[in-house]
Amino acid sequence: MSESMNRRDAMGIAFGACAAVGGVFALAGMKKAWDPLPSVKAAGTTTVDVSTAEDNVLYTEKWRGKPVFIIKKTPEMVAASSEVVKKRDLVIGNDHYMICIGLCTHLGCIPSYDPKNATNKEAFLCACHGATYDQSGINTKAPAPLPMLIPPFKVENGKIILGEAGPEYEKMKADGVLGETPLQA
Ligand code: FES
Repeated sequence: MSESMNRRDAMGIAFGACAAVGGVFALAGMKKAWDPLPSVKAAGTTTVDVSTAEDNVLYTEKWRGKPVFIIKKTPEMVAASSEVVKKRDLVIGNDHYMICIGLCTHLGCIPSYDPKNATNKEAFLCACHGATYDQSGINTKAPAPLPMLIPPFKVENGKIILGEAGPEYEKMKADGVLGETPLQA
């Protein structure tokens, strides 16, 4: 009896150790995804340094009290993009970024991002009422009526300045892809 007890104890300790190690790795992964990029706030603007951004990781910056999503796209994501999606991409050098205010256009919940769904139409899910969005923040399932909105931004020395409209933003506005009107993903 004592031998079987010892075996059970040993197995219990082994499983416990595995669970603890797994938990630490899971937390480390989650923390990485939550870490914001280096940013500086000043008089209604937020400057975001995307030079350290990793591919296909959702970064959430705070701008004027709102969450702003930024994702550096992988080559696979760019290759899977429609023409409309490409027009919503901010291109800095060779890198494509998605940028939008991270609020569901139904009733304002914050959608969650699943990197595994980056190249399909369910990249973002709004858990409140089930709306989905693609990698560019274009709504792909009701009840969201519009794409997530692209905020005013400009690019300076490779950094994104939220709150000031630069030529890249004005081009998106002229192309009608900011998210003020319905778009087909
Ligand atoms: S608030 Fe997002 S689906 Fe309703």
